Order: sequence, then structure tokens, then C-alpha cells
Amino acid sequence: MSAQAPAVLPQRRYEVVAPPAGARAPRARLASDAATLDLDGQWRFRWSPTAADEADPLDDGADWPGFPVPGHWQLNGFGLPAYTNFQYPFPVDPPRVPEANPTGDYRTTFELPTDWAGGHTLLRFDGVDSWFELWLNGERVGDSSGSRLTIEFDLTPFLRAGSNLLAVRVHQWSFASYVEDQDQWWLSGIVRSVALLHRPAGGIDDVFLHADYDAATGQAMLRADVRSEGGPASVTVAELGLTALAGETVVVSGAQPWSAESPRLYEVTVSTPAETVTLMVGFRRIEVVGVELHLNGRPITFRGVNRHDFDPRHGRVVSRELLEADVVLMKQHNINAVRTSHYPPDPYLLELCDRYGLYVIEECDIETHGFDLVGWRGNPSDDPDWAEVYLDRMRRMVERDKNHASVLLWSLGNEAGWGRNLEANGLWVKGFDPDRPVHYEADVETRVVDVYSRMYATFEELDAIGAQREPRLADPQLDARRRGMPMVQCEYAHAMGNGPGGLADYEAIFDAHPRLIGGFVWEWYDHGLAIVDATGRPSFAYGGDFGERRHDGSFIVDGLLMPDRSPSPGLTELAAVFSPVRLTVVDAAITVQNRQAFASTADFVFRWTFTDDGREIAAGELDVEPVAAQERAVVALPELPRANGEAVLTVFAALAADARWARAGHPIAHAQRVSTPTVAPAEATPVPVIATERGYRVANAEFDAYGRLVRLGAHEVVSARMDAWRPPTENDRYVSVTGEPSMESVWRENGLDRLEERQLEVGVDGAELVVGCRVAGSATDVGFEVEYRWASIDDALRLRMSVLRTGEWRTPIPRLGLTLALRHGDPGSVPVSWYGYGPGESYPDSTSAVLLGGYSGTVRELQTDYVVPQENGRRAGVRRARVGELELTGLFDLTVRPWSIDEIAAATHASDLDAGDLLWLHLDAGANGVGSAACGPGVREVDRLILSAAQLEISVRNVSM
Ligand code: GAL
Repeated sequence: MSAQAPAVLPQRRYEVVAPPAGARAPRARLASDAATLDLDGQWRFRWSPTAADEADPLDDGADWPGFPVPGHWQLNGFGLPAYTNFQYPFPVDPPRVPEANPTGDYRTTFELPTDWAGGHTLLRFDGVDSWFELWLNGERVGDSSGSRLTIEFDLTPFLRAGSNLLAVRVHQWSFASYVEDQDQWWLSGIVRSVALLHRPAGGIDDVFLHADYDAATGQAMLRADVRSEGGPASVTVAELGLTALAGETVVVSGAQPWSAESPRLYEVTVSTPAETVTLMVGFRRIEVVGVELHLNGRPITFRGVNRHDFDPRHGRVVSRELLEADVVLMKQHNINAVRTSHYPPDPYLLELCDRYGLYVIEECDIETHGFDLVGWRGNPSDDPDWAEVYLDRMRRMVERDKNHASVLLWSLGNEAGWGRNLEANGLWVKGFDPDRPVHYEADVETRVVDVYSRMYATFEELDAIGAQREPRLADPQLDARRRGMPMVQCEYAHAMGNGPGGLADYEAIFDAHPRLIGGFVWEWYDHGLAIVDATGRPSFAYGGDFGERRHDGSFIVDGLLMPDRSPSPGLTELAAVFSPVRLTVVDAAITVQNRQAFASTADFVFRWTFTDDGREIAAGELDVEPVAAQERAVVALPELPRANGEAVLTVFAALAADARWARAGHPIAHAQRVSTPTVAPAEATPVPVIATERGYRVANAEFDAYGRLVRLGAHEVVSARMDAWRPPTENDRYVSVTGEPSMESVWRENGLDRLEERQLEVGVDGAELVVGCRVAGSATDVGFEVEYRWASIDDALRLRMSVLRTGEWRTPIPRLGLTLALRHGDPGSVPVSWYGYGPGESYPDSTSAVLLGGYSGTVRELQTDYVVPQENGRRAGVRRARVGELELTGLFDLTVRPWSIDEIAAATHASDLDAGDLLWLHLDAGANGVGSAACGPGVREVDRLILSAAQLEISVRNVSM
């Protein structure tokens, strides 16, 4: 037997750390009159669980099934989606990836149009995840990675007249996966459009528009740098009567500048005899001036969100309609900025941002966050072998999108640590495009960036940074440079589940310091994938739902939009906080504060209503002279009629005329003044408590011998007791950024999830049935002393409940009130109406969107279907409510549900919840805020429910009786 030396297996092509091979240099995306052929549609497809099985590029796949391009194979029947936040789902061993490397072979055939002779034919991919190679007619053309980056190949040498066979082989994993570790689903395939472009000889290869605006002189400047073999190109802006030659700088008077508030664009044509391309130009200047960020000479503030491309059915394959709907929804919610986390978006998004007016921080497709878990050892960001790969990614982003007015800052990437390759990218982009500042959060010492960026800074830190009081950097020079820069929160207010709380507090801090240029809420979407669960019900999937062995659970559903795109209460709150106009009612006047940077308030109308105990008794329109940007004005209110009850003055600002993104009347801002009369209404004499065989009767309610409420009118009462528990929110579940323990764990330690009531005394005191109890959970000695006083007043059952905390409490509590469970055949259908805050839910640290008024809906409609069931639906400050046949009066927070707290807490998906036969009412004296501890600070001290004693008074009348 002869020993054989083990053969080293050949290096896999997709593990070679290299920029694309055989590809064209990156260039701008140009709308041209040259012909294009859209190759999107059904291709033929063959999927293999490993890369071992190589299909012959000459095999036309005639017998393979059809497959959508663009499309992810995991969402079209091949392989499964997987979610990790930042841990790599494979060993950290760059550039190697698993042997089990799912691979998709694609085939399509196209006819070369007969009139494309001459010039070149390019094939353009806008995004292929993660590495691919391609052949035309059996000949290898090249390979590429960069899942969200455009790449073009020149097919000319490989083309045939007539039919051409294109073969593309895509691998799920490659060396590139190490630099694409963004917090999102791992989803593969040809995921953006594919097109053939005819490039006429003498055509225009590239255009870089430099469009400036000088606010001091009101002059605009335009220069188009053009790459063309067709001789000097001419540049025309017909609307401005402007013609020039490529490379020539022209100064224009009378052009309007571009901003998110007035996104004025002009059409520019660039022509050679062979080709004309059309661009939309916006004249604007973005610059860092001291600690401020200026656009056209004025400081601007980002009221932004982080946005991924996402569709619940198609993953990162997004239609033009969806992109436009996103932009419209952002504008409608007073959002003025987008960070394209964490890669260049579908190219159409930027056209929309230019047109509708949204400021963009465009981020490069680079993230190596998983190296954090191995102490950043081997991070590609600092490995010279990866330098070309990094630079190629940066160039492909910048070249593609350099002509967009909306792109104000370039971002080097996200969570990729620090290193030479990022530094080189920063230096390159500053040389290439000195007109845009550079952003990158992990450049902590701000070595190359122009703005200081942080994520999830607490309120206190933010305030300190605003005042230039942040902790020092070791190097005094770097410290001085950073301290002199504007600061942006590239991520804050983690919108996971019920939350984020504290948006108004953040906004107040941004407003207080010129150095703070605003921030971007994390994040726009809940990335829940639409599935049908095991019981056949539609549901939204998150990490672990596809059997992933390691995953990060519901961290993928942490957005302001539910997966079905309905706005969450968090988005409604954000709209109120981000409002471009701040209204305040002061005595007999209102203050109108214009928070815009450029526009006056001329586009808004101001209306008011005046209600007496919920009934409108006067209304009108206010004559507000346009208030200039950044100014405020005091506007007198008309004489108001006398109200006998609670007087509420509400002032609204709304769009005066139709805008591109909303109709006239669209709400912009609101403010309210509530004057509650202090005179107590005369009290009727209570009817004495009646002793019955089994206990007591008070009004139409029956109690057992222990004083427990067992019947309320026609309703069997299954439970009625003091309660302090809520189904934990996802923010309750996490340790906050300041290291505060998870509220849920603390609450459970204190027994709040399992409170039991022990009757201590029952008796009649005057006309009241008095019941004394201790309420506490097992295994703890902390609890509550509770006294219920029940009386019959005016046919209503009145409860006065007093609660005293006993024992060594060291924690806020989630809520405090009375929980009632009534037997009901169809609890979800019960109609509810209330006079209190609404229409949506609110918590102590998210109250900006709600107004005192009269609202209604069914119990089912009052639920917020967070993807992961949790506390929701609280209507605060309710004075009176009707729940089915029950009329409730007092001052309480109302939560009505067809499910128990325990059912909600146990459910993992909204689809798990089946309506039972109990109607649950939670009538509360108070609640804890929600915070954003899932990633950020917990609830601020002022919004915590820290009570040593509390009282609640409620009357219940059964109106059917
Ligand atoms: C950040 C990261 C985001 C997201 C967020 C948590 O660190 O940049 O992509 O993962 O945390 O949801």
C-alpha cells in the first residue's frame, strides 16, 4: 500500500477576496434615449443545497422551472430564510464559508435587437446576493459580489446576432458575506433588476453634475463633468434658458434652491450627436459650519428614520409602487430624512427622495459587525487584502448616486469597526466628491468623518454632547476636532414592539442644542415575513420561525411600520413629535413656532374647536400671518363661549392645499388646553348595602360572603381584583443600554406576574361594603394592602379602591388598577366608546399623538397587533366610557381586551391569540412608560410608575337594566 499525500482542495472561486472581475468601471445611473431591454421576468432556475453541483453554462435549462427575477429563492420555494442580527451564521473564518453553500443557477435567453449593431451592449445587475458569475453563450464573462450594488458587464465580445444564452450562477455564501453582516434576513438570489443597455458609439458614458447654490448671492452654479467618446457634450437646462459645454461652469440667477421642504428640481439634458441623457438637478449646498450642518446657508435638523428595502412577501425585492408608498408615508408623518441602512437602496428610492424632498444619508454596503463577538480579530476593515474590495464598494455606491440632490452625506457603512480600509474609503470619497460631508458612526475618533455620529445615546449623554461636555478623547487634537463638529444620532429610539417611549424628550434635547443635527429612529419597518402558521392562519415570521439553530428572534421586527405596512402607534407618535410646526396654547393666545429651516407656514391653515364636556360648542379658523422659518408668532384667540363642564380648546394645523404627498386638510400639528372644573358635583345619597343569603348586593352588583364581586348586572364576573401586571413589552424584556436589569425580570422577582388576593376583612361601613385584602405573588414578601369600598349611588356601583405598597419595593410597577373579567360570548365585537385620550393607545412617555376627545371602536379594533403580542391598547385619561352595556365614569386609564394578560404574555405571534369567552377590562390609576430598553435607555424616572399609595374611583352603571 502506498501512502498518498492528502490533496489540498482547490480554492472555491467565491472565496477569493477580490473586486468584481470582467466588469465595467462604475458610473452614474443615467436616463438615456439609447435603447434598453428589461430582462426582469421569468428566468429558468435550478437550485442546489451545495456549490458542488456545477451546471454546464451551455445547458439552456429548458426543463428547469420558471423563476422570478428579481426574487429571493428562499421566498420562492428553495431553501429557507434565516435571521441573525450580527452573529455570523457560520464559523468566523474569513474568507471561508460553509461547504453547504446553497447555489442557484439561472438561465435566460434574449434576442439582440437588430438595430443595436455598433457601439456596445452592457448587462447591468442592480443587486445579486451574494456572489455570482456569468457566462454568455457558454463563455465566462466575469464575476461579482456586492449584494446591493450595481455592476455592469460589457457583453459585446460575447454576443451573437439573434438569440443569446445568459447563464448566471449565484452562491448564497461567499467571502463577501463577511462584509454584508447587516441586521436583516439572509436572503439570496438576483434581487434587483437586470437590464441590457445599448451604448451607442459616441454616447455618454458618465455624467457628474456639480450643482451649487449660494444663499448669500442667490446664485446657482452648474457644471456637468461628462465622460464621452462622442466629442464635447452640450448641457441644457431649458427652463432656465441655460446652455453650456460639458466641463464649463455656469452661474445662473433666478434658480430656486432644492431642500426637503421645497424640492425644486430642474431638468438637465446632456447631449452628444449620438445620445441624450436627462437628469433632474437640484441646486443646493451642504456644508459643515462649525458645530452645525448647513443646507443653503441655514442649519438643518434631521427628523429621520433608518430604512431597509423590505416587503413582507418579497423580502428586499421592492416594487416602485412600494417605494413610492414609503416615501409618501414618510412625508405624511413629518419625516424629513432617511438613512439608507445599511446599503444603497433600490435606485428608484433616491429619485423619489429628490422629487418629494427627503434628506438622505446614503450608506455603503459594508458591515462586519459579527467580528465584535471575536474581539474584532481579523476584521476585514483593517486587512489590506480587503482594501480593493472596500474601495470598489464605496465607488460603486458613490458613482451610481452622485447626481442626487437628496443625498447629502455619504456613509462609509455600518458597524464595521475601524481600520485602514474604511479610512481609505473616507479619504477617497472626500477627494472624489468634496461637496458632501462624510458619515460613519464607528469612526469614534472622527478621523475621516465630518460629523460626529452616535447610536442609542441616552438622554443625558445627548444633552452633554449638545453642550460640548462629552467625555474627552485621549488625543487632545482629535478631541478638539470632534468637539467642534455637529453630532447626529444615526440610530436612536429603537421602535421594537410597543414603543419607542421618550421621543418627545429626545426631540426637546435636539431642539435645545444647535450642535445636535437630529437623528434617525431605528427603524422604518418590522421585517416580519408573511407566512401561514402551523394552524393555517396568516402570520408574520421572525427569527427562529424557519428552524434556524442560531437566530436573534424578534429583533428583526423593530420598526415603526407593521409588516403589513400599517403605521404603528410609535409612528403616529413620531409624526406628532417631528411636526414642522409647534403649537402651544397660552391663555387667550396660541404660539405658532415654525420649526422648518426654509419654508414659512403659508402652506398651513390653522383651525380650532372648543368643547364643553366633549360637546363641540364653537369652532373656527385662525388668521395666522405666515410665520417665517425658525420664527414664532403669538396669535390671539377669539372670545370663547362659557363652558359648564370640562372645557377643551384644540388647535390644529393642516395642509392648506393638496401637496404631492397628501391632500389639503392633512393634519400637521395640534395642541390642546384642558380646563377641568374643580367644583365637585353634588353627591346623591347612597342606597344601603343589602345583605343576601350568599353575601351582599350593592346597586346591581352581587358579592359573595368574602366581598368578592361575582355579578354585575347581567354579567357573570369571573375575576375582579386589584392588579399590577401587564403582558411585558419587548422593551420590558431587555437590559437597557445603561445596564439597568430587564423590567420583566424584576417584576417577576417581585411576584407581579402571579398576584393573588387574600381577603382579610369584609363588612359594611355606613352605606359602603368594605373589603380589605392583601395582594401579593408567591415566593415574595412584598405586596399591596388593598381596600375596596363599594357603594350604590344613583343606580351605579361605585368603587373607591385604595392601594398601599407594603414591603421592601425597589422597582417601578407596570400598572396599577382593577382588572375585571366578565363572561361574554363574543368579547371582540363589543362596542366601546370613550371620552378621554385617543384615538390611539398612549403611555406616559408617548403622549404626543393623543388628544382628549370622544372616540369609539370595537374591542377588537382597540387592540394593536404587535407581531410579538405584548402590552397594548391603553386609552389614557378616560372620564367616561361605554363598554357594551356598562357605563363607566371616573378618571382612569382604560384597556379592554378579548384576551387575558397571561394569554397575551404567552403568545409568541399575534396569530396565536384566539378570542375566548371573557371580556377583560383594566381600569387603571396609572402605568409605567415604555422606554426603548430593547436597544437604548429604559423609561425615564418621571415616566415610571413609582407609587407608595394610590386611589382609584370608578362608577359602573349597567345601562341595559
Ligand atoms: C444597531 C445596528 C442596527 C440594528 C440595531 C438593533 O447596532 O446598527 O442595524 O441591528 O442595532 O436593532
